[in-house]
Amino acid sequence: MTGIPPRIALATHNPHKLRELGRICGDWPTEWASVENHDPSAFPDVDETGATYLDNARLKAEAVAAALGLPALADDSGIEVDALGGAPGARSARYAGEHATDEENLRALIQAIRGVPASGRSARYRCVAAVAWPDGRFEHVDGTCEGTLRTAPAGTGGFGYDPVFVPIGSDATMAELTDEEKDRISHRGRAFRGLREVLSG
Ligand code: IMP
Repeated sequence: MTGIPPRIALATHNPHKLRELGRICGDWPTEWASVENHDPSAFPDVDETGATYLDNARLKAEAVAAALGLPALADDSGIEVDALGGAPGARSARYAGEHATDEENLRALIQAIRGVPASGRSARYRCVAAVAWPDGRFEHVDGTCEGTLRTAPAGTGGFGYDPVFVPIGSDATMAELTDEEKDRISHRGRAFRGLREVLSG
């Protein structure tokens, strides 16, 4: 289709996402510009005012594409808990408040599901992988990872809600998997591998 761009800006300030994207997209034939190898102030910190992952991914990718004059890759993601009507969803990063840490969000989620029987704790991670070009072109692909939630955190890998999220087909939490195991099944791995296919045509 358009081909994989030779230079792409990574539209995120989140060090966890940068690390995962570095692994998942590390074999793209691309030179990456990110807050880790450029002046971070050149990368706008975008308010996620959209109602959906797609809206927010688009806001982030388009703002960075315009600021740097490069195609920009963005990830918007979150966790959806069926017993909470799909919350926190696109608000996952702010579940415990506007500037909440991952630990505070995790504690708030555990509190919210404490009364739900284990059999009713189905959940899924979702990710929208998006790329925006300075000339207005835009592509995106969704990725999902189904699972269930525990109320006792386990594991030190990954980030965010990983210590309580058990992917379908696994006995371990996402935080107990190796990086390679997580990337193979994660919403982010699926979305960005899909985006690569779309770009490659
Ligand atoms: P945003 O995409 O920057 O709005 O934030 C996504 C939020 O969803 C993160 O801050 C985490 O709370 C959660 N999240 C997204 N992906 C993952 C993941 O792979 N593991 C754990 N939590 C995640």
